[in-house]
Amino acid sequence: MTTIVIVGAGHGLGAAVARQFGHGGFDVALISRSRDRLDALAADLTAEGVTARGFTADVRDPAALEAALDAATATLGPIEVLQYSPVPQREFMRPVLETAPADLAGPIAFSLYGPVTAVRQVLPGMRLLGRGTLLFVNGGTAVRPHPERAGTSIAFAAESAYARMLHDTLAADGIHTGQLIIPGAITPGDPHTDPAVLARTLWDMHSERTGFRHYARDLDA
Ligand SMILES: NC(=O)c1ccc[n+]([C@@H]2O[C@H](COP(=O)([O-])OP(=O)(O)OC[C@H]3O[C@@H](n4cnc5c(N)ncnc54)[C@H](OP(=O)(O)O)[C@@H]3O)[C@@H](O)[C@H]2O)c1
Repeated sequence: MTTIVIVGAGHGLGAAVARQFGHGGFDVALISRSRDRLDALAADLTAEGVTARGFTADVRDPAALEAALDAATATLGPIEVLQYSPVPQREFMRPVLETAPADLAGPIAFSLYGPVTAVRQVLPGMRLLGRGTLLFVNGGTAVRPHPERAGTSIAFAAESAYARMLHDTLAADGIHTGQLIIPGAITPGDPHTDPAVLARTLWDMHSERTGFRHYARDLDA
């Protein structure tokens, strides 16, 4: 039994991915800032027969994120799959002409330093296992920047470049990297963006290991 760690796990996509991988044979480590919400989600999953535990960390705090990932490994065993999908803070989405250097510190910490911290923490374990999957989830501004959401557009571009380089560099080691782009909102009941549909796509990306970037729906839909 190996573990999926979902960095930024809430009741939407995080819960759906936890169910998809949990019922697919993985133990599940959930990371977010709220102990109460993590415990409630872990309890729901446990009631369904999934081994799940919550670990608190703010992804903008590298030491806390490293400690949470270490605790997840110590508690649940080796991490085979890392999904990085915390939902960005609203204050990151300011118009481009109102965005000063200081306004980019949060988005960059969230979408670039967080992923780099998480990946560096789990890679040695994946190398020991001899396999691994790194999954990044982003909105459409990762591909088409939006002038009203400058912070996320800029930081997602950096995250995308990092993930793409991981894809090219780690493939030879049996470690697959993929990015799922979700244009528009995650919408329960939508045939393309229902959380369970997206979770299935992420499962297929992990299992089939084809290509780097996948789209939940057409960018222009
Ligand atoms: N929701 C959408 O409409 C939408 C649209 C396009 C793309 N996406 C992508 O989908 C993913 C999120 O899916 P979702 O919206 O359904 O979210 P979710 O899985 O329901 O929840 C994500 C969790 O991220 C946690 N989080 C936020 N900031 C954090 C931080 N600084 N440190 C640690 N955890 C943090 C939040 O928990 P705490 O507040 O307890 O920390 C939240 O519960 C993201 O990759 C996002 O870019 C979402």
